[in-house]
Amino acid sequence: MSQQPQLPSSYEDNNIATSTSNDKVTNLELTHEKIIIIDFGSQYTQLIGRKVRELNVYCEIYPYDKFNENTLKVSSGGENAEQDGWSFVRGVILSGSHHSVHDEHSPRVNEQVWNEIHKRQIPILGICFGAQMLAHLYGEQVVSSVIREYGRAHIQLTSNNEDTILSQLSGDSQVWMSHGDSILIKEEGSQLEIIAKSDSIPVAAFKVKGKKIFGVQFHPEVHHSHCGKLILSNFLKLAGCSCTWTPSHFIDETVKNLKQTIGESDHVVMALSGGVDSSVAAVLLQKAIGDRLHCIFVDNGLLRLNEFEQVLETYRDSLHLNVKGVEVSTLFYDALKGESDPEKKRKIIGAKFIEVFEKEAQQISNVKHLGQGTIYPDVVESIGGATIKSHHNVGGLPEKMHMKVVEPLRLLFKDEVRRVGKELGIPDNILLRHPFPGPGLGIRILGDITAEKVELLQKVDAIYVNSLKEEGLYNQIWQAGAILLPIHSVGVQGDGRTYEKVVALRAVTSVDGMTADIFHFPWEFLGKVSNKIINQVKGVNRVVYDISTKPPSTIEWE
Ligand code: XMP
Repeated sequence: MSQQPQLPSSYEDNNIATSTSNDKVTNLELTHEKIIIIDFGSQYTQLIGRKVRELNVYCEIYPYDKFNENTLKVSSGGENAEQDGWSFVRGVILSGSHHSVHDEHSPRVNEQVWNEIHKRQIPILGICFGAQMLAHLYGEQVVSSVIREYGRAHIQLTSNNEDTILSQLSGDSQVWMSHGDSILIKEEGSQLEIIAKSDSIPVAAFKVKGKKIFGVQFHPEVHHSHCGKLILSNFLKLAGCSCTWTPSHFIDETVKNLKQTIGESDHVVMALSGGVDSSVAAVLLQKAIGDRLHCIFVDNGLLRLNEFEQVLETYRDSLHLNVKGVEVSTLFYDALKGESDPEKKRKIIGAKFIEVFEKEAQQISNVKHLGQGTIYPDVVESIGGATIKSHHNVGGLPEKMHMKVVEPLRLLFKDEVRRVGKELGIPDNILLRHPFPGPGLGIRILGDITAEKVELLQKVDAIYVNSLKEEGLYNQIWQAGAILLPIHSVGVQGDGRTYEKVVALRAVTSVDGMTADIFHFPWEFLGKVSNKIINQVKGVNRVVYDISTKPPSTIEWE
């Protein structure tokens, strides 16, 4: 029998947090089979989560130093008794990291967690650094490679893999590597068995003999690892997952939970933005408590052309939400008058929004909860201790209003929100809508904001977005919009010289808005749309296209 590897004493030092405030984490309670992903800081961790969910298995991601023996305690539906959250864990995935196992402060799994995993014989998959950590703990060597390996590689199987994560893989498969260190396994006396090698390293994958513990030196979660999905799926099956986590499953479970949390008489108030997240969250809440959900949709005067009326109509007529539209453009324009500083504009818009929302909410009686469309990447970011993007426009609202927050989408990635939305029958004009910032056109008009400038930009933006839709380009783009620049340029129209405004067009591809590439338009499209804008919008005589990626630029100009 092989032994459980012990954490060397140097791993038990201060860099392992043994008690953390897990307020947010314990909220993620779900009595459903799950995979736990322990994050050591890899850029790909969220991708592992999404791939596991795509395979219909629910998973949770925890930074290694925020995951301790208390993290998985689950309260059992209001009776305050705690269930054993570990009993739902089918497997653990250890992520990659930019660290080496030899670094002085190399990250490690909390000791009690490690013991729990071994005591319960929970299957483990270590990826890249996770695999090196496993090999190191099992007494094998992890050495600094002479050749660092990044990008495409091919692995060849070295054993009969019927009962391993490499089951059904073809003899030679493309994978994606990204590592400096490599694993070496002793020829004799090792608890590990090599199951795949690559052209440049002797251990591309291994298993612990007699256990469901595996390590892969490459990244099965990335698109370019052709066999990655099969490997993850094999691991989930070996871990005994039933793979039944589907949108309809999520909807049933969430509606049941919401009914329990909110009770039979409390009311919930929620701000809608017209975007996917808040709309899907509202429909789930409405399914649970009906018209005790009160939605508020504010026209701050910085929305797209006719957006207020169109979205309000969809909310009422298609989604049957109990929604109130509040038209307060003038209030926002007055507050913004003469202000050009981007951060100040953002703050003014945020503060005004809270003021309006608070006033409206106070008119509803028995409101105890505030609904929000928070999604999983925001949760992971906040557990990880990173600053939440200042994009969270209603930051501070829950504290100010002394309400409990309900966040039905806390567990979902963006693409899952869309799948749930589809299942709920939410129309495509909401589901496939490009992201739009809370401060709206306010941060796309560079410099100070006036009603006239908003009107001009709305017209330009509408021509641009409608053209994208007409040409079938809209759904290939993550986000597109027009920006009004604070400069004038010389032009010639008819026989006269003009000195008028310049607009920039922006269109990017992205998966999460954190990084973005420019969308490569056909030149004909850009030429056509530029012509349309200059001919149809009085006051604009020049159109430019923004060709900057993020980083180093951002998606919005302010
Ligand atoms: P940046 O400009 O930071 O934008 O590259 C990334 C994504 O966030 C959106 N964004 C905002 N969303 N309030 C929001 O609700 C904001 O203040 C805000 N600023 C940027 C942006 O549109 C993009 O999708």
